[in-house]
Amino acid sequence: MSTKTVLITGSSTGIGKVTALYFLEKGWNVAATMRTPEKSDLGSNSRLLAVALDVTKEESIKSAWAEITRKFGKIDVVVNNAGYGLTGPFEGATTEQIKRQFDTNVFGLMALCKEAISVWRTKKEKGILINITSVGGRVTFPYYSLYHSTKWAVEGFTESLNYEVAPLGIKVKLVEPGAIRTDFGGRSADHTDENAPREYQSILKIARDNIKKAVERSSEPIEVAKVIFQAATSNSSQLRYKAGSDAKLILALRKLVPENLFFSIIKSQVFKGAEI
Ligand SMILES: NC(=O)c1ccc[n+]([C@@H]2O[C@H](COP(=O)([O-])OP(=O)(O)OC[C@H]3O[C@@H](n4cnc5c(N)ncnc54)[C@H](OP(=O)(O)O)[C@@H]3O)[C@@H](O)[C@H]2O)c1
Repeated sequence: MSTKTVLITGSSTGIGKVTALYFLEKGWNVAATMRTPEKSDLGSNSRLLAVALDVTKEESIKSAWAEITRKFGKIDVVVNNAGYGLTGPFEGATTEQIKRQFDTNVFGLMALCKEAISVWRTKKEKGILINITSVGGRVTFPYYSLYHSTKWAVEGFTESLNYEVAPLGIKVKLVEPGAIRTDFGGRSADHTDENAPREYQSILKIARDNIKKAVERSSEPIEVAKVIFQAATSNSSQLRYKAGSDAKLILALRKLVPENLFFSIIKSQVFKGAEI
């Protein structure tokens, strides 16, 4: 059997980087795409290609696809991992911040899906698209409205796409991580706090502290890499894959308890110590 090739976006750090190294270890060809491949610290290997790809630039998607197929022939699996979180009160967000959040997490992901589907359909090739969403694509937390709206969009988009591309021999899958120890809350994050009116500030500070404590119990990115690999190699038509112990717990709770009780549980955790 010929060596399979995976294209991963956002491979410079975090989940993308660890996933690139995991697929490499498993014997795959890996196209580790990132905005600045010249800064890649993934090492060198004849089965590894660090390629420039900014998901917000369609021409960069096309040129990356051409470069990867020149080296490896065919791309079998695409992992749409690039993304970041814009958090804080909605009222504090600028239109530019909102657009950038959707450009990366939704429109960028859709552009790469479109390229992959169009190539695979034209060449009558099989392929698997794996879209990384989040537990935050199924449930919500306070002050994450904009990030959630992108991940909920990707959930609905992928679920519907699943019906229409299956007859072409193309599978689409969703991987939903819980809190994972990466740069997500640091370097990659964007905030609306500064522009938010003062009425939000005291409760926001308490919520941020409580969320920070909860995120300290996060899982390692290798757990997500293993789930992505499982999704890439499974013969099943399973659509959703949870990654991380908290993801399983939160989604099970969401399913089991009535909606209002679930909201009360979230409020009791995030607003703990606040007078509301
Ligand atoms: N960590 C968590 O708790 C968590 C939980 C659920 C879901 N997720 C999801 O997992 C994915 C990966 O996040 P992470 O935790 O690994 O965070 P991360 O370490 O901050 O990685 C994010 C990656 O996305 C890349 N990126 C951002 N904008 C891009 C663009 N326009 N084009 C191409 N790449 C771009 C970044 O590249 P640069 O180096 O160029 O900035 C970086 O490599 C995201 O979709 C995130 O929403 C994370």
